[in-house]
Amino acid sequence: MLEKGVALEPSLVVGSIVGKKTFYITTPIYYVNDIPHIGHSYTTIAADTLARYKRMRDYDVFFLTGTDEHGQKIEKAAKLNNENPIELADRMVERFQNLWRILDISNDDFIRTTEDRHVKQVQNAFEKMYENGDIYLGEYEGWYCIPCESFWTSMQLSSNNCPECGRSVEKIREKNYFFRLSKYQDLLLEYFEKHPDFIKPESRRNELYRRIVGGIDDISVSRAAVEWGVHVPMDDEHTIYVWVDALFNYITALGLDDSAKLKKYWPANVHIIGKEILWFHGVIWPAMLMSLGIEVPYQVFAHGWWTLEGKKISKSLGNAIDPIEITETYGVDAYRYFLLREVPFGLDGNFSYEAMVNRINCDLGNDLGNLLHRTLTMIEKYCDGIVPEHEGSLSMEGKELIERSAKLNDEVDHAMSNLQFSRALESIWDYIGLVNRYVEISKPWVLAKELSERNKLNEVLYNLAESIRIISSFILPFMPNVAAEMYNQLGLSSGEEPVESDFTWGGMRPGTKVCKGSPIFPKFEHPIVN
Ligand code: ME8
Ligand code: MG
Repeated sequence: MLEKGVALEPSLVVGSIVGKKTFYITTPIYYVNDIPHIGHSYTTIAADTLARYKRMRDYDVFFLTGTDEHGQKIEKAAKLNNENPIELADRMVERFQNLWRILDISNDDFIRTTEDRHVKQVQNAFEKMYENGDIYLGEYEGWYCIPCESFWTSMQLSSNNCPECGRSVEKIREKNYFFRLSKYQDLLLEYFEKHPDFIKPESRRNELYRRIVGGIDDISVSRAAVEWGVHVPMDDEHTIYVWVDALFNYITALGLDDSAKLKKYWPANVHIIGKEILWFHGVIWPAMLMSLGIEVPYQVFAHGWWTLEGKKISKSLGNAIDPIEITETYGVDAYRYFLLREVPFGLDGNFSYEAMVNRINCDLGNDLGNLLHRTLTMIEKYCDGIVPEHEGSLSMEGKELIERSAKLNDEVDHAMSNLQFSRALESIWDYIGLVNRYVEISKPWVLAKELSERNKLNEVLYNLAESIRIISSFILPFMPNVAAEMYNQLGLSSGEEPVESDFTWGGMRPGTKVCKGSPIFPKFEHPIVN
């Protein structure tokens, strides 16, 4: 049904689709029961950075995010607010979309599960699984956690509460449609074995694998008691379980069946998610796709949690931090940088304003901002603001800058292919450190005193300008505004023009007029908020 024109070898390094350079990347679709917080912005910023990186490397990228608008949790939140679920959803979607605009998120589409294009296709898929015998009517007796929208057995509860979030669960006993998940146990195990990179990080993959080995039961995929959802096509008394509805967004956004977009971009290269929803993405989702004869995504990357005093940051725990407030104080790019630099992608991390201010003052202000400012000041002072030309052979230190820039290219690409954002930034900052040492060693202010050292001075200043140009290209996916500003100050773009990234040494033309501005990062004395 959804066969691709080309048989795809399951090559699993992200970005290594055989025969064409497309890259399909997704975030979870977020619940609209409340406004977005730092956790949502984390996943979306990571996905945006990878999307921008892949575009920069000439991939045809499709980057999807959206909202999960059905189910009991939304129904309940709307009731508390005395409004219809769709009114609540409309208000909240605005909040998410506004935040993505503020954070410079470059998504290509935004899907809402209440949209017609989605609803119809979910019903379609449900019907197909019913027709092929993978969905059947049965009776469910057990527990349900509304905040997690999850079914649990008595055995799974922890002290009578939800084992995932610790909150109270409700008992349900109703006729439900079930999906034959148990039938896919062997196929899933085989898939995991053949595709060692399907789930990342590896420790989470192994844990999930062991859970599948331990046995999986059929799952309930409809609710009789929930009205706010997609109706089961052959039985109007039921709505489709919100997680089934939600997972299909990754496909319905492209268009099911004969859609050109689906042929072009599916299977997804990577679904980026938080670790608490790995079971749905790593087990239920591939099994349903197998049931429909649709290819399974190349990779699911489950990152860790931001915590505050050891607790997961979440709306319902009341410790949510508003990303808009942070960016108003510290700037959008600094916030993007901090989230991706501070904690290796995959691990949990504790959020603190102290740590953020440190990163801004040291990495951004001292290391990067000063390098730019100082370099442009010297080019103004010694060369009338024109990037100079030089003749003759290069100094050892100059050669090292060039060689290391080529190495940096490989390091960053390797790190980004593995979603190691912090590793990529570390490599970039190692290079920035090298360039800063080059200034100290070459001492342009001493060279400027001797007419006979003119050529040497020109060489040093050219090398500095060129290194900074390369650095701006590398930081572009992480900090698009800072990169654009650096390009501006280097005299390479007029602000409106998109930044051209080029990682090979020599892109800076002598004769370019630089345009020094104020330092690109303000210094912060103390954490201002909290
Ligand atoms: O689970 N740290 O939506 P959701 C890091 N609708 N990331 C966090 C986080 C934290 N403290 N808190 C939230 C749902 N996130 C479903 C998804 S997908 C088909 C359906 C991020 O609004 C992280 O990506 O609860 C997590 O998986 C997601 O927000 C959960 O958002
Ligand atoms: Mg959640």
